[in-house]
Amino acid sequence: MTEIIESIKKIALEISEAIKTKDTGKMDTQNACGDVQVKLDVISDEIVEKYLLATSSVKEIMSEEKEAPVKKNEGKYLVAYDPLDGSSLIDVDLSVGSIFGIYENGYNGEDIKAAAYVVYGPRVEMVVARDVVELFRLNEKTKEFEFVKEIKLDKKGKILGPGGTQKYWYPYHKEMIDSLFKEGYRLRYSGGMVPDLHQILLKSGGLFAYPGTEDKPKGKLRKLFEVFPFAFVYKKAGGFGVDGYNDLLTLKAEHYHDTTPCFFGSEYEINRVLETYKGR
Ligand code: AHG
Ligand code: MN
Ligand code: MN
Repeated sequence: MTEIIESIKKIALEISEAIKTKDTGKMDTQNACGDVQVKLDVISDEIVEKYLLATSSVKEIMSEEKEAPVKKNEGKYLVAYDPLDGSSLIDVDLSVGSIFGIYENGYNGEDIKAAAYVVYGPRVEMVVARDVVELFRLNEKTKEFEFVKEIKLDKKGKILGPGGTQKYWYPYHKEMIDSLFKEGYRLRYSGGMVPDLHQILLKSGGLFAYPGTEDKPKGKLRKLFEVFPFAFVYKKAGGFGVDGYNDLLTLKAEHYHDTTPCFFGSEYEINRVLETYKGR
């Protein structure tokens, strides 16, 4: 596992460099999810693949940008990753990220053993969740990641990141979001789940919601590359990740690019979600 985390540090350095120096334009192609790709999606995917395939404890890799996994003849762990999350924000210079789920035996919620993500913001930060959740920050002079602190969520936060297209929100979802704003929650939503979820973690709590909607009942965010890794991070930080009804980590993945509604937050906000969705 340590070997994989060390590889992720090298990946983070190289992707960070690519973001600063390469073309921010779009490709003519779409990825396996049918999303428009930017050139940096493809470059980042190649960087992750290069390092993970050279890591002996990795048995298989599966990317948001690929149709199917790349398998090896050695190793123990299956790594599912989103090489560049929030890539539609690249051309407006907002923060983006990389997300990694480290699985054993399969890609269901129960199979995830560790997770990590990198935020490419004004500074490069990396969060690693194993038994505990640790924050590291890149020292740009030494090119080393330095340990900053352990991350723990409080029972209740103050910020709210409500995703999805409001026009298609279910009425009970809208009522819940409105009522949280009336309680005093402040809007914090960039359109990149990595910085949005990172902010909630570092401000000790809140709620990020990417619900099922009338146009997309299964939500947008992908279980293997986005949802399970963050559900693992939030759980280890003392928070929660649910699909409105159940712990996200009890869900199975029907296929590699399966999506699910998802809510991440601290105890108070997640209880509000569960109460709202009960019986719906
Ligand atoms: P990706 O760039 O890997 O396709 O994922 C972006 C995700 C996530 O970061 C964000 O929360 C969500 O898509 C926003 O999507 P919409 O703007 O389409 O709601
Ligand atoms: Mn993504
Ligand atoms: Mn992506």
